Amino acid sequence: MTSRERLLEIWPEIEWIEDSSLREQVVETWLLAFQRSPLEPEDLLEIPFTLHVPDCGVTFLAHKRLVVHLALASAVKIEEFMGKAMPIDRDTLIAGAILADVGKLLEYDKLDGRCVQSRRGQYLRHPFTGVGLAQECGVPDAVCHVIATHAGEGNMVKRTAEAYVVHHADFMTYEPLVKGLRFDD
Ligand SMILES: [Fe+2]
Repeated sequence: MTSRERLLEIWPEIEWIEDSSLREQVVETWLLAFQRSPLEPEDLLEIPFTLHVPDCGVTFLAHKRLVVHLALASAVKIEEFMGKAMPIDRDTLIAGAILADVGKLLEYDKLDGRCVQSRRGQYLRHPFTGVGLAQECGVPDAVCHVIATHAGEGNMVKRTAEAYVVHHADFMTYEPLVKGLRFDD
């Protein structure tokens, strides 16, 4: 199996992107990230999606795919109830959600079989390295904007509708685990 075939197997949502050139740019960005990362596609099916929650039980890929599904489902409902009042470009949304964390492949190092934050990850968090990878592959600015602003760094700038939706899909399935109110007893 080629690395491209393996990528499409672990990332079936790439096929949701209608524009063929954008779809290709997304594939190229992920393949480039794997070339430069100590991680293999198989690792994404095993490593936790965050290093901030010990034993979180959710894999990297499970969370990344969840964000894409939530973002698209949100866009469908927003369109249904708000019509043209808040237009959302589906391809930009889906591509942005799929690429939001691609830079994390440069943020991890493997140490004794465990994943730890790399030196590069300490200097440059994944929104920055993700944009760098995507730009090398010709990803349009509207999609790079989603990558750049999907996390806390994006609170400093005006987000597009697509970026807001991806940000919230991502954070509503992350922050409750890290700092949500919980009653464990
Ligand atoms: Fe992220």
